[in-house]
Amino acid sequence: METPPSDTAADGNPFAGMDPETAANPQPMFKALRESVPVMPVEGVGVVLTGRAAIDEAFRDPTTFSSNMSAIDLKNVRPLIPLQIDPPDHKKYRKILDPILAPRQMALLEVPVTRLVNDLIDGFVDRGEVDFAREFSVPFPSQVFLMLLGLPLDELPRFLAMKDGIIRPDQVTGSPYGSDAMHELQRETAQSIYDYFDGILDEREIERRDDLLSQFLDAEVDGQKLQRTEILDICFLFLIAGLDTVTATLDCMFAFLAQHPEHRRQLVDDPARIPAAVEELLRWETPVMGVARIAARDTNLGGCPINQGDQVMVMLGSANTDETEFDDAETVRFDRESNRHLAFGGGIHRCLGSHLARQELRIALREWHRRIPEYSVAPGHTLAYTSGIRSIEHFPMNFVPAN
Ligand code: HEM
Repeated sequence: METPPSDTAADGNPFAGMDPETAANPQPMFKALRESVPVMPVEGVGVVLTGRAAIDEAFRDPTTFSSNMSAIDLKNVRPLIPLQIDPPDHKKYRKILDPILAPRQMALLEVPVTRLVNDLIDGFVDRGEVDFAREFSVPFPSQVFLMLLGLPLDELPRFLAMKDGIIRPDQVTGSPYGSDAMHELQRETAQSIYDYFDGILDEREIERRDDLLSQFLDAEVDGQKLQRTEILDICFLFLIAGLDTVTATLDCMFAFLAQHPEHRRQLVDDPARIPAAVEELLRWETPVMGVARIAARDTNLGGCPINQGDQVMVMLGSANTDETEFDDAETVRFDRESNRHLAFGGGIHRCLGSHLARQELRIALREWHRRIPEYSVAPGHTLAYTSGIRSIEHFPMNFVPAN
């Protein structure tokens, strides 16, 4: 679902070596690329797409621009479902999963998610300062996920270790990206994820609960249930797709709002603006900068030849600031009328968890601004963004709570 964060070009990652200023403010780089080479061949990698038209075209043809396992290697032993499944099988899985994560289902989370947000805020509100990432943006989505799985919140450390072992094994091991140690940790973690969910599924086979895993066990399409391995492959993907993405989005949104008091004030004064603000900040920040594809055959995009086997990097952040799609694309406007952003991707693989993510983000922004209307980045601190998925690992914040 994402490009792995990387510091080297070893794995052909186009974000390799991105300087801190560009990671924090990638929009000017996207603009420059889009205006000169909207479809850019990159030696030893493939092509990078930055123009909206080319990106829309690639998303419309998922058979040519495949998402199969060679598009991104996370040491999973089988394809992640549905992310690494091409047509026609992909449709079967979305038919099962879409209703489970539909807006109507996610609306039921209103009360428990509001409680989770307030419990987290209770933990630091009297202090006037917080490390936003450590105490809010990292634990919150994992807690929501634990709740959806019917698991106790004290499983949090195990969950964080599992996702970090896959997504940032270089940082966990302290060894370079692409090293043997990193791959070994990814392999071990992948196996532990399969084993962990296998154990819980055994329990749910015996006794169903009101949770996601029980729904997966009972789901049917065309009279057929999912097999155990298929459910495991879905769980694996949820773990790596549904946690860091929300964390990164919260980081990007709160960093923006902390540094733009006039925008923040609009949300404090009129919370009804929050849903539109979430969309606009998703557009502008595009926390998942890009997604990867593999060309399944020789083809051509925007006049640029693409060879079978080439990696195709689809730069969502660029599509989201393309003037051909957005009026006043460089301005953050919470009153934008049409906002066809691609922060959740596009085409058949468009984010399955977008309704869940929106629910989490809207509630987080609403409760936070109700209780903490004034905040800023701690004086003297420069926020450092990771590339690929734009999270901020250390985010010291000072704030003044509401009376
Ligand atoms: C703001 C938070 C999120 C962002 C920005 C985001 C972004 C994305 C993007 C860009 C894709 C497309 C990947 C591609 O085309 O290769 C995607 C797919 C996906 N996302 Fe999300 N995501 C978020 C939250 C979530 C959550 C909470 C879940 C939890 C279930 C989730 C589950 C998935 C799944 C399962 C897919 C694969 C869909 C498919 O292949 O059909 N995402 N997401």
